[in-house]
Amino acid sequence: MSLEFLPDAIEGIYFVTILLFIVALKRMSSPATARSGIVAAGAAMLVAAVATVFTPGLSSGNFLWMAVAVLVGGSLAWIAAKRVKMTDMPQMVAIYNGLGGGAAAAVAAVELVIHADALAYLSLAVAGAIIGSVTFTGSLVAFLKLQGWMRQRPIVYAGQQVTNMVVLSLAAIFGVLLLAFPGLAGSVPALASVGFLPWVFLWALLFGFLVALPIGGADMPVVISLFNAMTGVAVAFDGLSLQNDAMIIAGTLVGAAGSLLTLLMAKAMNRSVSNVLFGAFGAVEETGTQMAGSLKPIEASDVAVMMAYAGKVIIAPGYGMAVAQAQHKVKELMDVLEQKGVTVKFAIHPVAGRMPGHMNVLLAEAGVPYDRLFDRDEINPEFASADVVLVIGANDTVNPAARRAGSPLQGMPILDVDQAKNVIVLKRGQGKGFAGVENDLFYKDNTRMLYGDAQETVTKLVQELKKL
Ligand code: TAP
Repeated sequence: MSLEFLPDAIEGIYFVTILLFIVALKRMSSPATARSGIVAAGAAMLVAAVATVFTPGLSSGNFLWMAVAVLVGGSLAWIAAKRVKMTDMPQMVAIYNGLGGGAAAAVAAVELVIHADALAYLSLAVAGAIIGSVTFTGSLVAFLKLQGWMRQRPIVYAGQQVTNMVVLSLAAIFGVLLLAFPGLAGSVPALASVGFLPWVFLWALLFGFLVALPIGGADMPVVISLFNAMTGVAVAFDGLSLQNDAMIIAGTLVGAAGSLLTLLMAKAMNRSVSNVLFGAFGAVEETGTQMAGSLKPIEASDVAVMMAYAGKVIIAPGYGMAVAQAQHKVKELMDVLEQKGVTVKFAIHPVAGRMPGHMNVLLAEAGVPYDRLFDRDEINPEFASADVVLVIGANDTVNPAARRAGSPLQGMPILDVDQAKNVIVLKRGQGKGFAGVENDLFYKDNTRMLYGDAQETVTKLVQELKKL
């Protein structure tokens, strides 16, 4: 049977998968449709991978290896994804993204050996190799920091930026040498090990490791998103080098989506991407700030009475709710209040928690309907008319210090919770937020502190409300 139609059929399948990727991305932009977006993207990836296996000219001797790799990799990823805790999601994304970058670099390495005589292929492969390698080790450091297996605070030392620039330049110089003297790299495969190829990888891998060191654990989601965009670009370069349309377009989509997400996150924190990358944010904690006023503790029973007779309660969740895994209790609290005729709304800051959409995911998991969630611009005008605002484990995102000149948070758009009649802050003690800045809100006349782990304090609130 003639298989001449195969290349066209594969191209056709790639076209459909690309359309599916675009639809999937669109659906991921809303919590209501995100789940179906993920399923669509996964299905498209599976179809594209299966179609690739039928590419004419693939050596059939490799099929077994490919099947084993898919089986082992797929099973490990399935088990890990099923077991991962919601709070550990950022590091899972980091490690998977790093493996994607590593795979892109490996593909580039093979291309460099096979096409050692064609400059166009070589330059694309060199770019893919450098970007993929940087992403691989950078994401690995992100994973280690988020997992707590490496110091989370920024690791800084004298001459750090210069060292990084030298290492990156060395990767680029060896890349150029590889292009100038390709024969050394691998036209004779036996010479590959002594050629320039390993040096390109070595310096690029080292650069990825070094560039991630001064970035604090909590800034990592922004950096992971940037590395994610870079993986996309590396895959697109590999696609150009391999003449594979699916890789070119999927890589470009990931590159564009990752870049936009990076910029959005940086904007929501009022910081530039270069400040996130090179600012070593969080290396030094703010100390000695004299706050006017005092911290005024309150009991759960008093808060329950306050809320039971309120017209409107707004809940502003933050990282502490994720740490306490209090989302299910928070949903119960919402139900009890609504049964008592209280209007309950959730104020969602774009960078609350430690990853994009962190609060949305947790609250959706607990069954809080999407129509109760409001983003910052929608909810800010409502705080003044709220009887009670419950701040659950949020700190920086509700810190009025952002309006103060000279504060590290200056200019960060916040939730204006301090405008409410009563503000109740649920936290364990005197811990600062990610930015390490004292919070003016806690000392205001209309603020009371409800101390304890958020899951326990919200449980108490529910119990007290049920008694009323
Ligand atoms: P944070 O400013 O990180 O503050 C969290 C607060 O939760 C702390 O003050 C802590 O105080 C409290 N807490 C911790 N565990 C708790 C528990 N078990 N029960 C009750 N309270 C607990 O939170 P946020 O307002 O969500 O701000 C997020 C920060 O992360 C921002 O600075 C943002 O720029 C940064 N960031 C976010 C992202 C994304 S994409 N979301 C990415 C990078 C950086 P105690 O220790 O006293 O309890």
